Amino acid sequence: MKPPAEEIEQACFLLPDLAATEALAAAVGRVLSPGTTVHLSGDLGTGKTAWCRALIRSLGYNGRVKSPTFTLVEPYKLSHLTLYHFDFYRFSSEDELHEAGFDELLDSDAVALVEWPERAQHRLPAPDLRLCLRAVDDAPDARELRVEARGPRGRACLKAMRDAGYSARP
Ligand SMILES: Nc1ncnc2c1ncn2[C@@H]1O[C@H](COP(=O)(O)OP(=O)(O)OP(=O)(O)O)[C@@H](O)[C@H]1O
Ligand SMILES: [Mg+2]
Repeated sequence: MKPPAEEIEQACFLLPDLAATEALAAAVGRVLSPGTTVHLSGDLGTGKTAWCRALIRSLGYNGRVKSPTFTLVEPYKLSHLTLYHFDFYRFSSEDELHEAGFDELLDSDAVALVEWPERAQHRLPAPDLRLCLRAVDDAPDARELRVEARGPRGRACLKAMRDAGYSARP
């Protein structure tokens, strides 16, 4: 018998400025558990790295959080978690994920934040949290953030985002 389809919960937030994006990332940081995977999509410059940076800082990391655009991955050993911040923008084939040895990192108990997951789509398991950022016309610092949460870990993250108090549509 087929297992029941896993329930996906969705929400959409309107973030007026960078501080709002950072507040939602920090809210997720407070409930993040080992092994959680977050995929971040959206056009260039919409704020994927800004969201990851705010989350990593909220976990107590005081150093520089660089974009992994060139290195493909930046590792962080935090007090109670290991976290890998990936950026697959430069991947030209899905096999590069395997060739780079990233399968193992993604399979581990570490938290994985993945920018540009589309570049390795068929190689990646479904994430706990899928975030999609979009610019808003006529408001340079505003973003629309669509969220899809899957399973208990994803739903805990989405609940924390809802509790942060930014306007949300179901
Ligand atoms: N509400 C907002 N949320 C996120 N970033 C914002 C917001 N308003 C302005 N910004 C600015 O937009 C830029 C987002 O850049 P960032 O590097 O995070 O984008 P990105 O989505 O990671 O791009 P790339 O696809 O090149 O990796 C930053 O300069 C940030 O300060
Ligand atoms: Mg980026």
